[in-house]
Amino acid sequence: MTGFRNLFDREPDGRWAAPGRVNLIGEHVDYAEGLCLPFAIAERTVVEVGARTDGRVRLQSAAEGEGWEGALDAIGPGSPAGWAGYAAGVLWALREAGHSVGGIDLLVSETVPLGAGLSSSAALECATALAVNDLFGLALDRRELAAACIRAENDVVGASTGGMDQAASLLSTAGHALLLDTRDGSTRQVPFAPADDGLRVLVIDTRVRHHLADGQYGERRAAVEKAAATLGLHSLRDATLRDLDALDGEPLRRARHVVTEIARVREAVALLDDGRLQDIGPLLDASHTSLAKDFEVSCRELDLACETARASGAFGARMVGGGFGGSAIALVPVSRVDDVATSVRDAFTAEGLRQPEIRRADPSEGAHRL
Ligand code: GLA
Repeated sequence: MTGFRNLFDREPDGRWAAPGRVNLIGEHVDYAEGLCLPFAIAERTVVEVGARTDGRVRLQSAAEGEGWEGALDAIGPGSPAGWAGYAAGVLWALREAGHSVGGIDLLVSETVPLGAGLSSSAALECATALAVNDLFGLALDRRELAAACIRAENDVVGASTGGMDQAASLLSTAGHALLLDTRDGSTRQVPFAPADDGLRVLVIDTRVRHHLADGQYGERRAAVEKAAATLGLHSLRDATLRDLDALDGEPLRRARHVVTEIARVREAVALLDDGRLQDIGPLLDASHTSLAKDFEVSCRELDLACETARASGAFGARMVGGGFGGSAIALVPVSRVDDVATSVRDAFTAEGLRQPEIRRADPSEGAHRL
């Protein structure tokens, strides 16, 4: 790998890390003012950054193709395209919010697995935001930084994602899941330590790659917003199942996912608060069914991973993230971890599918300077 010094002919001012995330439950509700319960994982993105005084921006990544170089003023909606937009977009969003930000040299030296549904894009945004905040003395709090990251993704990259991933990367703490209320941005750290209960969260990466800017995600978001408008509501947050009687067909199914998923988050949090982690299994399963049947964002590989994990000893399993590929999680007793992993691999082989990548997810700390 080409180091910072070789690329930029100088030393970085520092290194900043931001983790990927797994969402325990509360999927596809963060753009409907819903509740979600993500946690930070150990996989992280690391950026090495040096401040510049001439308004130039140079971006390179060890894992991606071409870098980008340009002026701060050249950054805006759609520019730069590709991975560099996530990092550059943060500079743009901070300037749009009125902050005085200079140019930077930035190398992405380590990354959350790309396209696995573990929020590599948010991790890059959040690591960049933290670096820029420190280097230019902005003194913004993490919520403000998260807002800039979301703006970068929505406006510069053009992916209409909600704010869960950025909040998870910036606000998570080790040993907890983050209860995020996307209506007002408030959060609560919910104790979540699977190992203490003899449990493990496995992440099964189907290696089917998805891309959030690809249209399907935006279509789902639009459908959810349209359903709220049809019901005369600002969002589906306050809708009840009975309210949905006014809908039918596809709009009904989309809205039903959101309403039932928000209710499942509340139930899951109550169980965690009660020290009954193992009992959230059925909620994970119900979440997956709702995402697959009502929201239609699963795929054959995600369904197979979940079904097989359950059949071989997981208490529950569901797809995570935007869907159409990426990863599933399974809540598994430690004694069954090997069985579950072997069964899932065998099932993929039997169906002629690419081998999934299986890793453990431990609730880890949020973004920080190294
Ligand atoms: C992606 C988006 C998030 C969220 C999830 C689905 O990860 O970036 O904002 O909408 O999909 O829950």
